[in-house]
Amino acid sequence: MLVTSAASLLVPLLSWLSGDKPSNALTHDPPSLQFELRHLHAVSANSAHVMFSDVFPQALTSLAAMNDSTGSTKATYTVGTRKTKTFRPSSFAAHARARLRSMRFGENEWLDWGEDEITSPDVESRASLLELAKMTNNAYVEPDDPAWYDLEGKWNITYPFGWEPESDGFRGHVFATPDNSTIVISIKGTSAGLFGSGGVTAKKDKLNDNLLFSCCCARVDWTWTTVCGCYRGGWKCDQSCVEDALAVESLFYPIGTNLYNNVSYMYPHANVWMIGHSLGGALASLVGVTFGLPVIAFESPGERLAATRLHLPSPPSTHHVTHVYHTADPIAMGTCNGVLSSCALGGYALETACHIGKSIVYDTVSDADWTVDVRTHGIVNVIEKLLADPWPPSQEAGREVPEAKVEEDCTECYSWEFGDFPA
Ligand SMILES: *[C@@H]1O[C@H](CO)[C@@H](O)[C@H](O)[C@H]1NC(C)=O
Ligand SMILES: *[C@@H]1O[C@H](CO)[C@@H](O)[C@H](O)[C@H]1NC(C)=O
Ligand SMILES: *[C@@H]1O[C@H](CO)[C@@H](O)[C@H](O)[C@H]1NC(C)=O
Ligand SMILES: *[C@@H]1O[C@H](CO)[C@@H](O)[C@H](O)[C@H]1NC(C)=O
Repeated sequence: MLVTSAASLLVPLLSWLSGDKPSNALTHDPPSLQFELRHLHAVSANSAHVMFSDVFPQALTSLAAMNDSTGSTKATYTVGTRKTKTFRPSSFAAHARARLRSMRFGENEWLDWGEDEITSPDVESRASLLELAKMTNNAYVEPDDPAWYDLEGKWNITYPFGWEPESDGFRGHVFATPDNSTIVISIKGTSAGLFGSGGVTAKKDKLNDNLLFSCCCARVDWTWTTVCGCYRGGWKCDQSCVEDALAVESLFYPIGTNLYNNVSYMYPHANVWMIGHSLGGALASLVGVTFGLPVIAFESPGERLAATRLHLPSPPSTHHVTHVYHTADPIAMGTCNGVLSSCALGGYALETACHIGKSIVYDTVSDADWTVDVRTHGIVNVIEKLLADPWPPSQEAGREVPEAKVEEDCTECYSWEFGDFPA
C-alpha cells in the first residue's frame, strides 16, 4: 500500500513546510506599546457575520477597579516589541483569486507578496507573552448592555435582539494603543467550554473544527458519524472530497477574514496584530498568513493541514506567526484522538499536529512532570502555571522563553492514505 503523508499532497509551491531564512530582529528594537480595550467582537455560530460593540471609557474604569487572580481585568496591557518581516499580498482580492484558482483548477497563480518590516510583539520576552495571553483570556466583565453593530455602511445599528455574548461562536476583543497606531485583535476559541466550564458548543462549530483539524472527516471509528463522506474504507480518504466539504461548509476562514477586514476598515492606518487561544489561535494564524500580520497563537491545534486544505497561498515566509504551547496539552500536540480520548468523548476529533510559522514549545511533560491532560489546555492554566513564573529550562539557557523553532520534521495523519478515491 502506498502511504502518502498529507503534506506531500500540497500543490507544488504551496510550501507550508519551507524552512526559510531566519526572521531578523533589528538591533534597536522599538519600545513597548500600551493597549487598551476598545471593542468586543462576536460572531454567531451559524454565520460569518461579525458584530462589534464599543467599550466605553466608563466600562474601562470599572474593569480597572477589579482584579482577579489572572489579572485579566486590567485596563491596559504593556507589550514589548521588535521588528519582524512580514509578507502581504497586493490585495485581498488578488489573494482570493489565487486561492480560488488553486481550489478549482489546482493551478498556482503568481501572487505579488510585498515585503514589510513591521513592529511586532517581542516573542522572546516572557512578560510580553504573558500580557498577550491575558489579552486572549475571556474573563472580562462584559460591559452593561452592549450595543452590537455591524459595518455594513451603518456605524450605529444596535443589534436588535437575542444576541447573547455567552452563546458560542468566535468572539474576542479589539485593543488599541492610545494613538490607534497598533491594533490587537484577540480571538477566543470555541472549544474551551467543552472541556471545562462554560457555554454550549454549537453543532456548526464542531462540524467546522472536525473538518479542519481531523485527518479524514473525523472518522474516529465505526461508531462515529463522520462530518463529510470522504472516508473510503481502510485508511483511505478522498482528498478533493475533503477540500470540497471545507469550501462548502466551513465558515471558519471567512469569519477571520471578515473580522480583519472590518477592523482594518475602522482603523485604516493601523498596524494590526492577531492573537488567539485554541481554535481562536488557529484562526488568528490563518488570517495572519493571509494578510501578513504578526500572530501569537496559544495552544492552537495544528493548522498547517487546514491552510493546505483551504488552499491558502503560501507567503515567502511565515515566521511572523508564533505559536506558544506545551507538551501536556493534547489539543496542541494533536494527540487528543482515539475513541476514548476526552476529545472524542466531547465529539471532537482534533488530530492535526503541525503548526505554521515558528513554535515556542514548553516541554512541561519532561521538564515539569505534567501529565498529558486536556485540562492543561485552558488559557488560565497557561497564564498562571506556564507564563507567570520564569521557566527554569530556558533560564539555564540564558533565555526567558523556549526558542521559537520551525516544526521541520512534523508529521500528522501518517496512517492515512490521501488521494483520488472516487466514491
Ligand atoms: C465587514 O464584515 C462583513 C461580514 O460580517 C462583510 O460583508 C463586509 O464586507 C465587511 N466590511 C468591510 C468594510 O470590510
Ligand atoms: C486588587 O488587588 C490589590 C492587591 O493585589 C488589592 O489590594 C485590591 O483590593 C484589589 N482590588 C479589588 C477591587 O479586588
Ligand atoms: C446612535 O443612535 C443613537 C440612538 O439611535 C443616537 O442617540 C446616537 O446619537 C447615535 N450616534 C451616532 C454617532 O450617530
Ligand atoms: C482612536 O479610535 C477611536 C475609535 O475607536 C476614536 O474615538 C479616537 O478618537 C481615535 N483616537 C485617535 C488619537 O485617533
